[in-house]
This record gives sequence, structure tokens and C-alpha cells, in this order.
Amino acid sequence: MSVKKIILAVVVLTVVVLQFFVKKDNVSSYESVASFEKSFNVPEEVKTIFRASCYDCHSNHTKYPWYASIGAVNLLLDHHIEEGKEHLNFSEWSTYPEARQLHKLAEVYEEVEEDEMPLKVYRLTHGDLSEKEKETLILWAAQFKEH
Ligand code: HEC
Repeated sequence: MSVKKIILAVVVLTVVVLQFFVKKDNVSSYESVASFEKSFNVPEEVKTIFRASCYDCHSNHTKYPWYASIGAVNLLLDHHIEEGKEHLNFSEWSTYPEARQLHKLAEVYEEVEEDEMPLKVYRLTHGDLSEKEKETLILWAAQFKEH
């Protein structure tokens, strides 16, 4: 067998094997973030941005795109969701002490202001926040800024 064929076989096998590990289980109801949205009286236009651009990785409620069914892609998505939730999970908001909640919202300000969030790969497929969305989110989160 030529080297090329061996490489191709390995790639095909990897793709097939990965397919067995596809995981799309981060699907609690949207209700799980209600406590966060209520607790800080999050304005409607800010909720819309969280819903469209943040909860996929920062809550137990991911809206999986079709390509999440592709094993290799799924692996990456799943990793981002796990890591995102570890840092900040709006579905577990009510379990955070108030100081932690405030600190996390201060971080929302920083991350968005510095253009770190949403993750760059996510923006490739979901698009960037518009200037207006970014401004809306920053203006709202600024009240939590730590001095
Ligand atoms: C594709 C998944 C993904 C999306 C979408 C996403 N994040 Fe993140 N977020 C992560 C990951 C992974 C981390 C941890 C690693 C890092 O900081 O880069 C993180 C970290 C953070 C942190 C830092 C928390 C801490 O304790 O350090 C904040 C704040 C944050 N994200 C806010 C947001 C906001 C606001 C949005 C929406 C505008 C958003 N993220 C969208 C994956 C995501």
C-alpha cells in the first residue's frame, strides 16, 4: 500500500470512529437561564444578544447547528461548551454567591470590550456581534465594572 493510501485510510477511519462519539446533550430548557435574566433585570435587547451569541457555550441550553453532527466538529464544539460552562454557566447562576455573579458580569464587560467573546471560531459560523450589539452589551455590563 502506498503512503498516500495509508494516510487516507487513517483519516477515513478517524472520521468514522469519531462519529460514534457525537454528543449533543447540552439541551436543558431555556428556562434554566431565567433566574439570571430575572435577577439582574436584564433588558430585552441584552437578553437577545446573550441568547444569540453566548448561551450556546455559557449555559445548559445549546442550540446545536447541523454541523455539530459531524464527529470531528462535535469534538471541538463539545470542548468549547465544557470549557465555557466551567468558567461561566448562566444556568447555574442561582448557585453563584452574589460576589461571584458581580465579578462574572464585570468579566462580561472586559471580554466583550476586548473583543475576546464570543470565541473567534464561533464567529466564523455565527457572524460577529454588530457594532450596535457590542455597544449595547458593553453599556449594560459597564455597571458591573470593577475599579
Ligand atoms: C463557542 C463558545 C463560546 C461562546 C459562543 C462564548 N463564549 Fe465566553 N468563553 C468560552 C470559553 C471556552 C471560555 C474560557 C476560555 C477563555 O477565556 O478563552 C470563555 C470565557 C468567558 C468569560 C470569562 C469567564 C471567566 O471566569 O474567566 C466571559 C466573561 C465570557 N466568556 C463571556 C461571554 C459572552 C458575554 C459571550 C457572548 C457575547 C460569550 N462568552 C460567548 C466559550 C464561549
